[in-house]
Amino acid sequence: MKKICIVGTGYVGLVTAAGLADFGNSVIAVDINESKIEILENGGIPIYEPGLIEVVERNVKAGRLSFTTDIDTAIRKSNVVFSAVGTPPGEGGEADLRAVWAVATSFAKNLDSYKVFINKSTVPVGTGQKTQELIKEKSGGKDCFDVVSNPEFLREGTAVSDFLNPDRVVIGSKSEKAQAIMKNVYHALIVRGVPYIGTNIKSAELIKYASNAFLAVKITFINEMANLCDIVGGDVNEVAKAMGLDGRISPKFLHAGPGFGGSCFPKDTMALVEIFKENGLHSRVVEAAIEANELQKQHVVTKLKSVLPDLKGKTIAILGLAFKPNTDDTRFSPTKVVIPLLEAEGAHVQVFDPIASDDFRQDFPDLDYKEDVYKAIEGADALILMTEWNEFRSLDLERVKSLLKSPIFIDTRNIYDPRDMKEKGFTFVCSGRTKCYL
Ligand code: UDX
Repeated sequence: MKKICIVGTGYVGLVTAAGLADFGNSVIAVDINESKIEILENGGIPIYEPGLIEVVERNVKAGRLSFTTDIDTAIRKSNVVFSAVGTPPGEGGEADLRAVWAVATSFAKNLDSYKVFINKSTVPVGTGQKTQELIKEKSGGKDCFDVVSNPEFLREGTAVSDFLNPDRVVIGSKSEKAQAIMKNVYHALIVRGVPYIGTNIKSAELIKYASNAFLAVKITFINEMANLCDIVGGDVNEVAKAMGLDGRISPKFLHAGPGFGGSCFPKDTMALVEIFKENGLHSRVVEAAIEANELQKQHVVTKLKSVLPDLKGKTIAILGLAFKPNTDDTRFSPTKVVIPLLEAEGAHVQVFDPIASDDFRQDFPDLDYKEDVYKAIEGADALILMTEWNEFRSLDLERVKSLLKSPIFIDTRNIYDPRDMKEKGFTFVCSGRTKCYL
């Protein structure tokens, strides 16, 4: 049984800690944030992630998972140390690695026997090598350690099942000893036939950026196709379905919408553009996806104005603040672009989200937050559905229509069928399916 320490109890760190404990490892999860650790020690979890509390509880009970703020002791007790701290975008778009360097420094100070340092956070190419140099320097020249890159591919909202049933495990390290230890850490997956990609550190670092940027480009491509469908009269769902049946393309991540958001795609695409630049190159494809995605978010307001040209003095209901369902995370949520644009045009905005209002409040403290979906719709001149929460999939449409001042419904996520909505008397606009049915 490996003794593992995971530094950082955010989405990635906590899911990894609980998942690795579930595989039978002994795991200590560390955070410098005392209130987070207090919540965890009291049987709660500081984030909203479906299914996570059960895995945490199960492993705490079995004695395989514990929590602490004492990083030094946790590292000394462990032979495998994961860094799962935040790497937010810095001012120029490059990843801010200060938290990673702090973990590496603690690791170096507590290097009392051979240990493996694993970068789980998404970090630029070359970070593994820099980590290696930093640990060597801060430990006074010791070399009883290896640095490994082990990128995560967890989606918020489905992070637990993504961790327990991944498409692949990627381990970057040229050290055979470290590769063997990592195979042991992930033994429960490898015996089940999950592909294990053992590669060098730089390739592993690149795999993460390449995967996320590719998915961001894929979403952006279908969003642009949706915009074209709206002009020429195509149905983007049918276009995407037929494209996806080509095995080379695959049907996933071809859902048109208001643009991608979240903690990964916006940050990782910006960071990848910087990595290209630092190496004397340009990723024109990724740069274009970032630009097109910004326009896609703004395009939501254009759609509204196509049916309600003058927004001055109008009330607009916004359904959904999270960047996607099943998360309380609102980082880079398209709604954060849409709301200020509506307000700049003189509209009053009333909003509802089942989970994410508290997170949204940090950036938008003075919005008109409503306690349920129908209160948000009541008296509005139009509604915009921004996040495809399950509870928005089965709205009482008669009630919605009676609560709205005018029956304008902008469905950015293509949840509702334009034909039904027309029949029910709505002025309906969606993403890439509007013109062909209206
Ligand atoms: C993503 C990656 O999927 C995951 O592998 C990585 O480790 C972290 O980043 P996440 O950000 O949690 O995960 O969410 P994801 O489900 O990938 O969605 C990202 C954004 O793209 C959301 O705003 C979502 O609404 C949007 N999206 C996704 C679409 O607009 N259309 C799609 O077809 C898929």
